[in-house]
Amino acid sequence: MSTYPKEVSKGTKMNSILGLMVFFAFSSVLVVACGPTEVPFREKSYDEKLNIMGVKVFPELKKMFEEFDSKKYANFSCKTCHGEGHDKYKMPGKIVALDPNNIPKNDDKDARLAKYSKFMREKVQPKVAELLGMKAGPDGIGCFTCHAKK
Ligand code: HEC
Ligand code: HEC
Repeated sequence: MSTYPKEVSKGTKMNSILGLMVFFAFSSVLVVACGPTEVPFREKSYDEKLNIMGVKVFPELKKMFEEFDSKKYANFSCKTCHGEGHDKYKMPGKIVALDPNNIPKNDDKDARLAKYSKFMREKVQPKVAELLGMKAGPDGIGCFTCHAKK
């Protein structure tokens, strides 16, 4: 352990236990202070959420959608995810709804849906989850975070 304080290993047994406790207490303070998820996204203020969307989510996802289909997503915007006529960006977005009993899979018979499914599962969902400090899946960023149910 290179970061382990020298004095501690030299001291008595009691001292090393104390040193270890101080060391770990200090480490956890650092983790809390510098960690990416000090306050979970959903508990942040509206303005903070707006800022994270503008600075992190929009630019990264714009790149991804343009790579996926540069023609269709040439005008990628907040509305691509939140939908036309969204209500203060509340999710799910006013975008294409999905049938929860028939969610498109990567091997969907419809090649277009299969391609979208792959893109959503392998790129969009994990990236948005990562950027917002959440899990990818139903207890974090799932299909129905963004898509309404049909
Ligand atoms: C890639 C899709 C995507 C794009 C693009 C996007 N957002 Fe979001 N946005 C989300 C998701 C997903 C959430 C909800 C996260 C959650 O589950 O709390 C969200 C949440 C929000 C919220 C919080 C809403 C609330 O009620 O808590 C605001 C505000 C917001 N977005 C604004 C914007 C703005 C402004 C832009 C454009 C600069 C933008 N978003 C672009 C996916 C997107
Ligand atoms: C962060 C938001 C977000 C998440 C999470 C998400 N999607 Fe999407 N999805 C979109 C956006 C934006 C589009 C493009 C809508 C458009 O082109 O108008 C889209 C499009 C699609 C389409 C194409 C629909 C069509 O008929 O044009 C399918 C299929 C799809 N998503 C499936 C999924 C599945 C399955 C999941 C979960 C594994 C998922 N999506 C998760 C935002 C999301």
